[in-house]
Amino acid sequence: MSRSSLNRRDFTRLFAFGGSAAVLSHPSFEGFRPASLSTRSLRPGAVKWDDVRSQFLMPPDVSVLNAANLCPSPARVLETVVEYTERLDREPFPSYRTEILGAKERTRELLAGFLRVTPEEILITRNTSEANNWVSNGLDLGPGDEVLIFSDNHPSNNRAWKAKGERFGYTVREVEQVTPHPGFEYYLEAFERAITVNTRVMTFMHQSNVAGELFPAKELCALARDRGIISLIDGAQSFGLLDVDLSDIQPDFYSGSAHKWPCGPKETGVLYVNARVQDRFWPSSYSAYSGRSGISRTHEGMGQRDTPALLTFGTQIEFLQSIGQGEIEARSRGLANQLIEGLNAIEGVHMWTPAEPELRAAVVTFRPGELDARRVLGALEEDGIVAAARGGSDRGGIRFSPHFYNMEVDIERAIDAIGRYMRQGL
Ligand SMILES: Cc1ncc(COP(=O)(O)O)c(C=O)c1O
Repeated sequence: MSRSSLNRRDFTRLFAFGGSAAVLSHPSFEGFRPASLSTRSLRPGAVKWDDVRSQFLMPPDVSVLNAANLCPSPARVLETVVEYTERLDREPFPSYRTEILGAKERTRELLAGFLRVTPEEILITRNTSEANNWVSNGLDLGPGDEVLIFSDNHPSNNRAWKAKGERFGYTVREVEQVTPHPGFEYYLEAFERAITVNTRVMTFMHQSNVAGELFPAKELCALARDRGIISLIDGAQSFGLLDVDLSDIQPDFYSGSAHKWPCGPKETGVLYVNARVQDRFWPSSYSAYSGRSGISRTHEGMGQRDTPALLTFGTQIEFLQSIGQGEIEARSRGLANQLIEGLNAIEGVHMWTPAEPELRAAVVTFRPGELDARRVLGALEEDGIVAAARGGSDRGGIRFSPHFYNMEVDIERAIDAIGRYMRQGL
Protein backbone atom coordinates (compact mmCIF):
# COMPACT_ATOMS: atom_id res chain seq x y z
CA MET A 1 0.00 0.00 0.00
CA SER A 2 1.38 3.37 -0.97
CA ARG A 3 2.46 5.77 1.75
CA SER A 4 0.86 8.70 0.05
CA SER A 5 -2.33 7.16 1.12
CA LEU A 6 -5.39 9.29 0.59
CA ASN A 7 -5.27 9.55 -3.15
CA ARG A 8 -8.26 9.76 -5.44
CA ARG A 9 -7.83 6.18 -6.67
CA ASP A 10 -8.15 4.85 -3.11
CA PHE A 11 -11.23 6.93 -2.55
CA THR A 12 -12.84 5.62 -5.70
CA ARG A 13 -11.92 2.04 -4.83
CA LEU A 14 -13.28 2.31 -1.31
CA PHE A 15 -16.53 3.86 -2.19
CA ALA A 16 -17.17 1.82 -5.31
CA PHE A 17 -16.51 -1.56 -3.75
CA GLY A 18 -16.82 -1.03 -0.05
CA GLY A 19 -13.29 -1.58 1.23
CA SER A 20 -9.93 -3.27 0.84
CA ALA A 21 -9.17 -6.97 1.22
CA ALA A 22 -7.40 -6.15 4.49
CA VAL A 23 -10.52 -4.60 5.90
CA LEU A 24 -12.76 -7.36 4.62
CA SER A 25 -10.63 -9.93 6.40
CA HIS A 26 -11.16 -8.05 9.66
CA PRO A 27 -13.03 -10.42 12.04
CA SER A 28 -16.07 -8.17 12.24
CA PHE A 29 -16.49 -8.35 8.47
CA GLU A 30 -15.91 -12.10 8.14
CA GLY A 31 -18.17 -13.61 5.55
CA PHE A 32 -19.49 -10.20 4.60
CA ARG A 33 -19.27 -9.00 1.03
CA PRO A 34 -21.04 -5.71 0.46
CA ALA A 35 -23.37 -5.68 -2.49
CA SER A 36 -22.24 -3.04 -4.92
CA LEU A 37 -24.67 -0.17 -4.87
CA SER A 38 -24.52 1.39 -8.26
CA THR A 39 -25.19 5.05 -7.70
CA ARG A 40 -26.10 5.35 -11.36
CA SER A 41 -29.06 3.03 -10.81
CA LEU A 42 -30.35 5.38 -8.13
CA ARG A 43 -32.16 7.92 -10.24
CA PRO A 44 -35.00 9.67 -8.41
CA GLY A 45 -37.95 7.32 -8.24
CA ALA A 46 -35.79 4.35 -9.16
CA VAL A 47 -34.14 3.44 -5.87
CA LYS A 48 -33.77 -0.28 -5.22
CA TRP A 49 -34.43 -0.29 -1.50
CA ASP A 50 -33.40 -3.91 -1.04
CA ASP A 51 -29.98 -2.97 -2.52
CA VAL A 52 -29.78 -0.17 0.01
CA ARG A 53 -30.79 -2.55 2.82
CA SER A 54 -28.05 -4.99 1.78
CA GLN A 55 -25.42 -2.32 2.52
CA PHE A 56 -26.21 -2.64 6.24
CA LEU A 57 -24.98 -5.36 8.59
CA MET A 58 -28.26 -6.20 10.37
CA PRO A 59 -29.39 -9.74 9.57
CA PRO A 60 -32.78 -9.94 7.82
CA ASP A 61 -34.55 -11.10 10.98
CA VAL A 62 -33.49 -8.01 12.95
CA SER A 63 -35.75 -4.98 12.50
CA VAL A 64 -34.07 -1.79 13.65
CA LEU A 65 -36.78 0.82 14.22
CA ASN A 66 -34.83 3.24 16.40
CA ALA A 67 -33.40 5.85 14.03
CA ALA A 68 -34.37 8.72 16.36
CA ASN A 69 -31.87 7.36 18.86
CA LEU A 70 -28.96 5.76 16.97
CA CYS A 71 -28.77 4.48 13.41
CA PRO A 72 -26.75 1.60 12.06
CA SER A 73 -24.22 2.61 9.40
CA PRO A 74 -23.75 1.01 6.01
CA ALA A 75 -20.84 -1.45 6.10
CA ARG A 76 -18.75 0.92 4.01
CA VAL A 77 -18.80 3.47 6.85
CA LEU A 78 -17.29 0.94 9.25
CA GLU A 79 -14.80 -0.23 6.64
CA THR A 80 -13.67 3.29 5.89
CA VAL A 81 -13.15 4.16 9.55
CA VAL A 82 -11.25 0.90 10.13
CA GLU A 83 -9.18 1.28 6.97
CA TYR A 84 -8.00 4.79 7.75
CA THR A 85 -7.52 4.09 11.44
CA GLU A 86 -5.37 1.08 10.56
CA ARG A 87 -3.24 3.21 8.31
CA LEU A 88 -2.92 5.85 10.98
CA ASP A 89 -1.45 3.23 13.31
CA ARG A 90 0.57 1.34 10.73
CA GLU A 91 2.11 4.16 8.67
CA PRO A 92 1.56 7.45 10.50
CA PHE A 93 3.93 9.44 8.28
CA PRO A 94 3.55 13.22 8.37
CA SER A 95 2.30 13.28 4.77
CA TYR A 96 -0.57 10.95 5.64
CA ARG A 97 -1.38 12.95 8.80
CA THR A 98 -1.56 16.12 6.71
CA GLU A 99 -3.71 14.49 4.08
CA ILE A 100 -6.21 13.05 6.51
CA LEU A 101 -6.45 16.36 8.39
CA GLY A 102 -7.27 17.99 5.07
CA ALA A 103 -10.05 15.48 4.50
CA LYS A 104 -11.99 17.26 7.23
CA GLU A 105 -12.28 20.22 4.84
CA ARG A 106 -13.76 17.96 2.18
CA THR A 107 -16.37 16.85 4.74
CA ARG A 108 -17.10 20.50 5.51
CA GLU A 109 -17.70 21.20 1.81
CA LEU A 110 -19.97 18.17 1.51
CA LEU A 111 -21.96 19.20 4.58
CA ALA A 112 -22.34 22.72 3.19
CA GLY A 113 -23.65 21.35 -0.11
CA PHE A 114 -25.96 18.92 1.67
CA LEU A 115 -27.52 21.69 3.81
CA ARG A 116 -27.28 24.29 1.01
CA VAL A 117 -25.10 26.80 2.84
CA THR A 118 -21.41 27.74 2.62
CA PRO A 119 -18.42 25.80 4.07
CA GLU A 120 -17.47 28.99 5.92
CA GLU A 121 -20.61 28.53 8.06
CA ILE A 122 -20.03 24.88 9.01
CA LEU A 123 -18.49 23.54 12.24
CA ILE A 124 -17.88 19.81 12.60
CA THR A 125 -18.77 18.90 16.16
CA ARG A 126 -19.03 15.66 18.10
CA ASN A 127 -22.83 15.55 18.18
CA THR A 128 -25.99 17.64 18.55
CA SER A 129 -25.50 17.92 22.31
CA GLU A 130 -22.15 19.62 21.82
CA ALA A 131 -23.49 21.81 19.01
CA ASN A 132 -26.44 23.01 21.12
CA ASN A 133 -24.15 23.70 24.06
CA TRP A 134 -21.73 25.67 21.91
CA VAL A 135 -24.62 27.99 21.08
CA SER A 136 -25.69 28.50 24.71
CA ASN A 137 -22.02 28.94 25.72
CA GLY A 138 -21.16 31.27 22.90
CA LEU A 139 -23.69 34.11 23.06
CA ASP A 140 -23.27 37.10 25.37
CA LEU A 141 -26.40 37.10 27.52
CA GLY A 142 -26.99 38.53 30.97
CA PRO A 143 -29.48 40.14 33.35
CA GLY A 144 -32.49 41.56 31.52
CA ASP A 145 -32.15 39.17 28.58
CA GLU A 146 -34.62 36.36 27.84
CA VAL A 147 -34.28 33.06 26.01
CA LEU A 148 -37.44 31.46 24.63
CA ILE A 149 -37.47 27.66 24.56
CA PHE A 150 -40.00 24.99 23.61
CA SER A 151 -40.91 22.87 26.64
CA ASP A 152 -40.21 19.52 24.92
CA ASN A 153 -36.70 20.41 23.72
CA HIS A 154 -33.91 17.92 24.45
CA PRO A 155 -31.89 18.46 27.69
CA SER A 156 -28.83 19.47 25.61
CA ASN A 157 -30.90 22.50 24.71
CA ASN A 158 -33.30 23.24 27.59
CA ARG A 159 -31.24 22.06 30.56
CA ALA A 160 -28.24 23.91 29.17
CA TRP A 161 -30.11 27.23 28.74
CA LYS A 162 -31.63 26.97 32.21
CA ALA A 163 -28.31 26.18 33.93
CA LYS A 164 -26.50 28.99 32.10
CA GLY A 165 -29.41 31.34 32.79
CA GLU A 166 -28.87 30.74 36.52
CA ARG A 167 -25.17 31.35 36.13
CA PHE A 168 -25.28 34.45 33.95
CA GLY A 169 -28.51 35.99 35.19
CA TYR A 170 -30.77 35.84 32.15
CA THR A 171 -34.36 34.52 32.16
CA VAL A 172 -35.65 31.45 30.34
CA ARG A 173 -39.29 31.40 29.21
CA GLU A 174 -41.10 28.39 27.75
CA VAL A 175 -43.67 27.78 25.06
CA GLU A 176 -45.64 24.74 26.24
CA GLN A 177 -46.03 21.62 24.12
CA VAL A 178 -49.67 20.69 23.39
CA THR A 179 -51.14 17.25 22.59
CA PRO A 180 -52.57 16.57 20.06
CA HIS A 181 -50.50 18.80 17.76
CA PRO A 182 -52.60 21.97 17.49
CA GLY A 183 -51.12 22.90 14.09
CA PHE A 184 -48.31 25.13 12.82
CA GLU A 185 -50.39 28.30 13.17
CA TYR A 186 -50.93 27.63 16.89
CA TYR A 187 -47.20 27.33 17.60
CA LEU A 188 -46.37 30.38 15.50
CA GLU A 189 -48.85 32.41 17.53
CA ALA A 190 -47.67 30.88 20.82
CA PHE A 191 -44.05 31.89 20.09
CA GLU A 192 -45.14 35.32 18.90
CA ARG A 193 -47.16 35.87 22.10
CA ALA A 194 -44.25 34.77 24.29
CA ILE A 195 -41.73 37.15 22.67
CA THR A 196 -40.97 40.32 24.63
CA VAL A 197 -38.66 43.25 23.95
CA ASN A 198 -36.03 41.38 25.98
CA THR A 199 -36.10 38.13 23.97
CA ARG A 200 -32.66 37.48 22.48
CA VAL A 201 -32.77 33.79 21.47
CA MET A 202 -35.50 31.38 20.36
CA THR A 203 -34.95 27.62 20.11
CA PHE A 204 -37.07 24.65 19.07
CA MET A 205 -36.75 21.24 17.43
CA HIS A 206 -37.33 20.68 13.73
CA GLN A 207 -38.97 17.33 14.50
CA SER A 208 -39.66 16.27 18.09
CA ASN A 209 -37.99 13.14 19.41
CA VAL A 210 -40.90 12.63 21.82
CA ALA A 211 -43.86 12.08 19.52
CA GLY A 212 -42.51 13.11 16.14
CA GLU A 213 -44.30 16.45 15.81
CA LEU A 214 -42.94 18.72 13.07
CA PHE A 215 -42.56 22.45 13.69
CA PRO A 216 -42.83 25.32 11.18
CA ALA A 217 -39.09 25.92 11.11
CA LYS A 218 -38.99 28.44 8.28
CA GLU A 219 -41.83 30.56 9.67
CA LEU A 220 -40.46 30.52 13.22
CA CYS A 221 -37.03 31.59 11.94
CA ALA A 222 -38.66 34.41 9.93
CA LEU A 223 -40.51 35.54 13.06
CA ALA A 224 -37.25 35.55 15.02
CA ARG A 225 -35.44 37.44 12.27
CA ASP A 226 -38.19 40.08 12.09
CA ARG A 227 -37.82 40.71 15.82
CA GLY A 228 -34.01 40.73 15.85
CA ILE A 229 -33.93 37.41 17.77
CA ILE A 230 -31.32 34.70 17.20
CA SER A 231 -32.80 31.32 16.21
CA LEU A 232 -31.41 27.86 16.98
CA ILE A 233 -33.04 24.85 15.33
CA ASP A 234 -32.21 21.54 17.00
CA GLY A 235 -32.00 19.40 13.88
CA ALA A 236 -31.13 16.08 15.57
CA GLN A 237 -34.38 14.62 14.21
CA SER A 238 -34.30 16.20 10.77
CA PHE A 239 -30.64 16.08 9.65
CA GLY A 240 -30.32 13.05 7.33
CA LEU A 241 -34.07 12.40 7.36
CA LEU A 242 -35.71 15.48 5.80
CA ASP A 243 -34.48 17.20 2.68
CA VAL A 244 -33.25 20.18 4.71
CA ASP A 245 -32.54 23.40 2.80
CA LEU A 246 -31.06 25.92 5.22
CA SER A 247 -30.84 28.58 2.51
CA ASP A 248 -34.64 28.51 2.53
CA ILE A 249 -35.26 28.02 6.27
CA GLN A 250 -32.61 30.61 7.23
CA PRO A 251 -31.95 29.82 10.87
CA ASP A 252 -29.05 31.43 12.69
CA PHE A 253 -27.92 28.07 14.07
CA TYR A 254 -28.81 24.46 13.12
CA SER A 255 -27.42 21.40 14.91
CA GLY A 256 -27.32 17.68 14.03
CA SER A 257 -25.63 14.32 14.65
CA ALA A 258 -24.08 12.04 12.03
CA HIS A 259 -24.88 8.91 14.04
CA LYS A 260 -28.64 9.45 13.88
CA TRP A 261 -30.56 9.70 10.59
CA PRO A 262 -27.47 10.24 8.36
CA CYS A 263 -26.24 6.76 9.45
CA GLY A 264 -22.71 8.13 9.67
CA PRO A 265 -19.83 7.38 12.01
CA LYS A 266 -20.41 7.65 15.75
CA GLU A 267 -19.58 10.82 17.64
CA THR A 268 -19.56 13.23 14.74
CA GLY A 269 -21.99 16.09 14.25
CA VAL A 270 -22.57 19.49 12.74
CA LEU A 271 -23.31 23.06 13.77
CA TYR A 272 -24.34 25.54 11.10
CA VAL A 273 -23.59 29.15 12.08
CA ASN A 274 -25.17 31.73 9.80
CA ALA A 275 -22.63 34.34 8.60
CA ARG A 276 -24.84 37.12 9.97
CA VAL A 277 -24.37 36.04 13.63
CA GLN A 278 -20.74 34.94 13.56
CA ASP A 279 -19.49 38.22 15.02
CA ARG A 280 -21.71 37.68 18.08
CA PHE A 281 -20.67 34.06 18.71
CA TRP A 282 -17.74 33.11 20.97
CA PRO A 283 -15.81 29.83 20.64
CA SER A 284 -16.33 27.20 23.36
CA SER A 285 -13.05 25.47 22.80
CA TYR A 286 -9.53 26.69 22.07
CA SER A 287 -6.87 24.25 20.97
CA ALA A 288 -4.82 23.08 18.01
CA TYR A 289 -6.09 21.57 14.74
CA SER A 290 -8.89 24.01 14.03
CA GLY A 291 -10.46 24.11 10.57
CA ARG A 292 -9.19 25.92 7.50
CA SER A 293 -12.17 27.95 6.36
CA GLY A 294 -14.56 30.54 7.75
CA ILE A 295 -15.73 30.11 11.31
CA SER A 296 -13.95 26.77 11.71
CA ARG A 297 -10.62 28.67 11.87
CA THR A 298 -11.59 30.18 15.22
CA HIS A 299 -14.31 27.85 16.59
CA GLU A 300 -13.15 24.32 15.81
CA GLY A 301 -9.94 24.08 17.82
CA MET A 302 -10.61 20.76 19.52
CA GLY A 303 -7.13 19.21 19.57
CA GLN A 304 -6.52 15.70 18.32
CA ARG A 305 -9.68 14.15 16.87
CA ASP A 306 -10.86 10.92 15.27
CA THR A 307 -9.85 12.05 11.79
CA PRO A 308 -10.95 8.81 10.05
CA ALA A 309 -14.45 9.36 11.46
CA LEU A 310 -14.47 12.99 10.27
CA LEU A 311 -13.45 11.86 6.80
CA THR A 312 -16.10 9.13 6.79
CA PHE A 313 -18.80 11.60 7.84
CA GLY A 314 -18.22 13.21 4.43
CA THR A 315 -18.28 9.96 2.49
CA GLN A 316 -21.56 9.06 4.18
CA ILE A 317 -23.04 12.38 3.07
CA GLU A 318 -22.01 11.39 -0.47
CA PHE A 319 -23.78 8.07 0.02
CA LEU A 320 -27.01 9.84 1.02
CA GLN A 321 -26.64 12.17 -1.95
CA SER A 322 -26.14 9.21 -4.28
CA ILE A 323 -29.61 8.01 -3.25
CA GLY A 324 -31.14 11.48 -3.05
CA GLN A 325 -32.30 13.07 0.22
CA GLY A 326 -35.77 13.62 -1.22
CA GLU A 327 -36.01 9.88 -1.94
CA ILE A 328 -34.82 9.04 1.58
CA GLU A 329 -37.36 11.37 3.16
CA ALA A 330 -40.21 9.99 1.05
CA ARG A 331 -39.19 6.39 1.82
CA SER A 332 -39.00 6.95 5.58
CA ARG A 333 -42.28 8.85 5.66
CA GLY A 334 -43.94 6.09 3.63
CA LEU A 335 -42.81 3.43 6.08
CA ALA A 336 -44.01 5.58 9.01
CA ASN A 337 -47.43 5.93 7.34
CA GLN A 338 -47.65 2.16 6.98
CA LEU A 339 -46.72 1.76 10.62
CA ILE A 340 -49.25 4.30 11.88
CA GLU A 341 -52.03 2.77 9.82
CA GLY A 342 -51.27 -0.73 11.14
CA LEU A 343 -50.92 0.34 14.78
CA ASN A 344 -54.10 2.43 14.66
CA ALA A 345 -56.01 -0.67 13.54
CA ILE A 346 -55.06 -2.48 16.78
CA GLU A 347 -57.71 -2.08 19.46
CA GLY A 348 -56.42 -0.24 22.52
CA VAL A 349 -53.45 1.48 20.87
CA HIS A 350 -53.37 5.21 21.55
CA MET A 351 -51.30 7.15 19.03
CA TRP A 352 -49.38 10.19 20.34
CA THR A 353 -47.94 11.07 16.93
CA PRO A 354 -50.13 13.47 14.94
CA ALA A 355 -52.61 11.92 12.53
CA GLU A 356 -52.00 14.57 9.83
CA PRO A 357 -49.09 13.53 7.57
CA GLU A 358 -47.93 17.15 7.18
CA LEU A 359 -47.45 17.47 10.96
CA ARG A 360 -45.14 14.46 11.32
CA ALA A 361 -42.29 12.66 9.53
CA ALA A 362 -40.85 9.31 10.70
CA VAL A 363 -41.05 9.19 14.51
CA VAL A 364 -44.05 7.18 15.71
CA THR A 365 -44.94 7.09 19.42
CA PHE A 366 -47.94 5.33 20.94
CA ARG A 367 -49.26 3.86 24.17
CA PRO A 368 -49.83 0.10 23.84
CA GLY A 369 -53.03 0.06 25.93
CA GLU A 370 -52.38 -0.79 29.57
CA LEU A 371 -49.18 -2.75 28.81
CA ASP A 372 -46.03 -1.66 30.61
CA ALA A 373 -43.72 0.07 28.10
CA ARG A 374 -40.54 -1.49 29.55
CA ARG A 375 -41.99 -4.99 29.25
CA VAL A 376 -43.10 -4.29 25.70
CA LEU A 377 -39.58 -3.11 24.88
CA GLY A 378 -38.17 -6.37 26.29
CA ALA A 379 -40.68 -8.48 24.34
CA LEU A 380 -39.84 -6.57 21.15
CA GLU A 381 -36.15 -7.30 21.70
CA GLU A 382 -36.92 -11.01 22.04
CA ASP A 383 -38.78 -10.76 18.75
CA GLY A 384 -35.77 -9.12 17.06
CA ILE A 385 -37.24 -5.61 16.97
CA VAL A 386 -35.29 -2.57 18.19
CA ALA A 387 -37.44 0.29 19.55
CA ALA A 388 -37.36 2.83 22.38
CA ALA A 389 -39.58 3.13 25.46
CA ARG A 390 -40.76 6.20 27.32
CA GLY A 391 -41.91 5.82 30.92
CA GLY A 392 -44.13 8.09 32.98
CA SER A 393 -47.60 9.48 32.49
CA ASP A 394 -46.67 12.11 29.87
CA ARG A 395 -46.99 10.43 26.48
CA GLY A 396 -45.52 7.20 27.81
CA GLY A 397 -45.23 4.16 25.58
CA ILE A 398 -43.19 2.86 22.66
CA ARG A 399 -41.40 4.82 19.96
CA PHE A 400 -40.68 3.30 16.55
CA SER A 401 -38.60 5.36 14.13
CA PRO A 402 -38.27 3.64 10.74
CA HIS A 403 -35.74 4.80 8.16
CA PHE A 404 -34.72 4.12 4.58
CA TYR A 405 -32.82 0.94 5.49
CA ASN A 406 -36.05 -0.69 6.71
CA MET A 407 -38.17 -2.88 4.47
CA GLU A 408 -41.95 -3.27 4.57
CA VAL A 409 -41.46 -6.60 6.34
CA ASP A 410 -39.89 -4.79 9.33
CA ILE A 411 -43.02 -2.69 9.65
CA GLU A 412 -45.33 -5.72 9.37
CA ARG A 413 -43.27 -7.52 12.00
CA ALA A 414 -43.60 -4.61 14.42
CA ILE A 415 -47.36 -4.27 13.87
CA ASP A 416 -47.86 -8.05 14.29
CA ALA A 417 -45.83 -8.07 17.50
CA ILE A 418 -47.76 -5.19 19.10
CA GLY A 419 -51.08 -6.78 18.03
CA ARG A 420 -50.04 -10.09 19.60
CA TYR A 421 -48.94 -8.53 22.90
CA MET A 422 -52.18 -6.55 23.08
CA ARG A 423 -54.31 -9.66 22.46
CA GLN A 424 -52.37 -12.10 24.63
CA GLY A 425 -50.84 -9.82 27.28
CA LEU A 426 -47.25 -10.03 28.47
C1 LIG B 1 -34.03 16.56 19.62
C2 LIG B 1 -32.70 16.03 20.09
N1 LIG B 1 -31.70 16.88 20.32
C3 LIG B 1 -30.49 16.46 20.72
C4 LIG B 1 -30.23 15.12 20.91
C5 LIG B 1 -28.86 14.71 21.35
O1 LIG B 1 -28.23 14.01 20.32
P1 LIG B 1 -26.76 13.43 20.58
O2 LIG B 1 -26.90 12.40 21.66
O3 LIG B 1 -26.37 12.84 19.28
O4 LIG B 1 -25.91 14.57 21.00
C6 LIG B 1 -31.25 14.19 20.69
C7 LIG B 1 -31.02 12.77 20.92
O5 LIG B 1 -31.89 11.94 20.85
C8 LIG B 1 -32.52 14.66 20.26
O6 LIG B 1 -33.51 13.82 20.00
